[in-house]
Amino acid sequence: MLSWLAAETQTIETLDSPRKRFEPAHPSYYSGKPGNQLQRLLTARRDFLSIWRQSDHKEVVNAVTLLGRQIIAVNSPEAIKYVVATRHENFERKTPQMRRALEYLLGDGLFISDGETWKQRRPLVADIVHKHRVPAFGDIMKNTSLELVERWNRLGDGASVNALYEMAGLTAEIISRSVFGNDLGEERAGMVTDGFTSYQSLIDSINIGYFLGFDDGLPLFKTPTLRRSVKRIHRIIDQVIEDHLAGRGDDNSMVELLVRRQQRNPELKLDVVALRNEAATIFMAGHETTAATLTWAWYLLSKAPWIEEAVHAEIEEVCGGNVPTVADVPKLKWCTAVIEETLRLYPPVPILARQAKQADRIGNLEVKPASLVMIVPWVLHRTPSLFPDPHLFKPERFIEKRPVPYSYIPFASGPRICPGLQFGLTEAILCLAVLAQRFRLRVPEGHKVEPVSRLTLRPRGGLPVTLHRR
Ligand code: HEM
Repeated sequence: MLSWLAAETQTIETLDSPRKRFEPAHPSYYSGKPGNQLQRLLTARRDFLSIWRQSDHKEVVNAVTLLGRQIIAVNSPEAIKYVVATRHENFERKTPQMRRALEYLLGDGLFISDGETWKQRRPLVADIVHKHRVPAFGDIMKNTSLELVERWNRLGDGASVNALYEMAGLTAEIISRSVFGNDLGEERAGMVTDGFTSYQSLIDSINIGYFLGFDDGLPLFKTPTLRRSVKRIHRIIDQVIEDHLAGRGDDNSMVELLVRRQQRNPELKLDVVALRNEAATIFMAGHETTAATLTWAWYLLSKAPWIEEAVHAEIEEVCGGNVPTVADVPKLKWCTAVIEETLRLYPPVPILARQAKQADRIGNLEVKPASLVMIVPWVLHRTPSLFPDPHLFKPERFIEKRPVPYSYIPFASGPRICPGLQFGLTEAILCLAVLAQRFRLRVPEGHKVEPVSRLTLRPRGGLPVTLHRR
């Protein structure tokens, strides 16, 4: 039966016991009846993180058949490399669940496209968010974080806030300014952000139709609220794009780069809808994930004060009294390790699911066409042979040694690797440094943190914290 490891466990240093140990919240291993896969599917629909047995946390490839559909869980670095890199073309297609859930909002945007569309658009989007461009967005990241510092200052010492909502607001503002420049204005930016949030809360996490034999899943059920959200987002983004096409947009935004690229390469045939799909994809892919990462990082630091001290000492040493900038990021080794360890324990995209195009073979396992192939960073990152003490928060592991290739994949890997990796990492490290220089966040004693997986992995109900000036 399902049970929850209710309390995280923490051991703090005392003179007698120099051990510092923190095991953050996670569900206990699945112990449902072997063979009852339907029960497991229903559990997955409610809580995808609780369906993993201890025996799944090995370097193995397992398969089950559910209502005639083959489901394969791939958990060894070698087999993961085969799926995401060697045989990328056979396993590049997202699952019907993902496509059905997102296509209404994102159309054929990069996140869910495949085949020729994906091949054509990938270089375009990758170029726009490429690591060489990240420094240009550094000031937006720093200044938006500073605005949050000022707001927190006004709330007063000890104020209570929900860290998930605070981080969601911060990263939405950063991506909005990066994608749209100054074009949106406060009111329309708020409308777009709220629209995305409401869309995500309305879509289902598992398309049952796929398991009932429909290879393309069942269409999304479009409620009036969902239709309204989507129409509003599309209208606003289309307007921004039309302004750019007419030469009236902010020159430094990602939308401007997209539009200029189309004007230089008309053979790309990106019309307003295609441009909107890519802009909306970058917007959506680019903020929820970073917000979740930062929220989990605050939880972990709040419960591991000895790591928090190392972070504070580092910020002091690298930046002195100055506000951290994007140029400081490569020197912030502890901040980086905290973010990397956060992404290991709580990968914002906890499952990478694909639909096999043709029959194949992963290791010794025969793969049938249209099988569901799952790589589950949530399980992979907690596999003891790859990460000793897998449930413990130990950022130093990333300072001491780099993970085995294909064992640590919070940004996926292979040709479909997250193109925003450098943007997202830099943003998370810089925002953490700017905020941690001024504030300590504390999760109230007794608050039960419970990870849940929707489109991203987040704490159920957010993360209540109190803010303390440093
Ligand atoms: C901590 C932050 C982030 C994490 C953990 C993350 C993670 C991921 C993962 C795992 C995927 C692959 C999903 C799959 O294959 O099923 C992905 C794809 C993608 N991400 Fe990120 N991401 C982050 C930030 C960003 C940012 C900041 C941007 C843009 C500025 C971005 C843009 C994208 C896009 C466009 C794709 C689709 C790529 C494709 O399919 O070719 N991401 N991301």
